[in-house]
Amino acid sequence: MRVLTTIAEFSLALDEERRAGRTVGLVPTMGALHAGHGSLVERAAADCDVVAVTVFVNPLQFGANEDLDAYPRTLDADVALAEAAGATIVFAPTVAEMYGEGTATTVSVASAMTGVLEGASRPGHFDGVATVVAKLFAMAGRCRAYFGEKDFQQLAVVRRMARDLSFPVEVVGCPTIRADDGLALSSRNAYLSEEERRVAPALHRALQAGADAVLAGETSAAAVRDAMAAVLAAEPLITPDYCAVVDSGTLEVPEPLAGDLRLLVAARLPSARLIDNLGVTLTGTHRKDA
Ligand code: PAJ
Repeated sequence: MRVLTTIAEFSLALDEERRAGRTVGLVPTMGALHAGHGSLVERAAADCDVVAVTVFVNPLQFGANEDLDAYPRTLDADVALAEAAGATIVFAPTVAEMYGEGTATTVSVASAMTGVLEGASRPGHFDGVATVVAKLFAMAGRCRAYFGEKDFQQLAVVRRMARDLSFPVEVVGCPTIRADDGLALSSRNAYLSEEERRVAPALHRALQAGADAVLAGETSAAAVRDAMAAVLAAEPLITPDYCAVVDSGTLEVPEPLAGDLRLLVAARLPSARLIDNLGVTLTGTHRKDA
């Protein structure tokens, strides 16, 4: 395992791999790695000859009142997990290495796709994500890059950015890994108290309630949102941020609901803000009126 900290070493290492005829898989992370990240590394290792994991808590994507300082930093454990999952390179730069004295150039991803959901709740967040991912893509060069569906809107934004800016990068989406009780694994779950951890699977139950409503023939987005919100409302420790159902390609709300849909929730607990989502496809056979 090589742990690299400079942009020059990282770029060169991946150039050398490609020159030797090997394909490169890239897994960008903010560290505090868990089995969800591990699944991306395993998938990359199955598809590609070499896998590089990047570990960088990106200040640009955190809002002023968010958890940048508290975000868990566990590099030794991250390197061990990345290695066990099949990576041979970890790139873990400092903020100074990534941004020097600051940055005068950022990537703007303002569009209908980022004005909603996380983009609406966290102004500037996706520009920060896109800027750091663009930098990582520029350093990495031609590769496949693996992102989780856990951050569904991020995956859509990154995929679009790679296409719009012509990066030689194929963006690959991977399914969400969950705990046995349904809670999506997240580095932020570490913030939860025992009691919060006990109620947190309500996010997943809310998504399932929404999916059940869709599959039972509900075609009103508002009714599906209400079905999700009712599950969250039953938990006093949970304050919903949004419950949504959108077209999984455009992130717009189809009325009536139809096609390939994504249900999404975001909610605050006393110690953490959590997000989750679930896909449901509405085919003719599932429609009550079909
Ligand atoms: P981070 O939250 O560390 O997540 C890194 C990658 O792991 C993302 O693609 C995310 O969707 C994926 N991931 C997280 N939890 C997962 C789970 N339970 N199952 C499957 N995949 C999961 O997302 C970021 O970092 C940053 O925004 C980043 C893209 C690295 C840019 O800074």
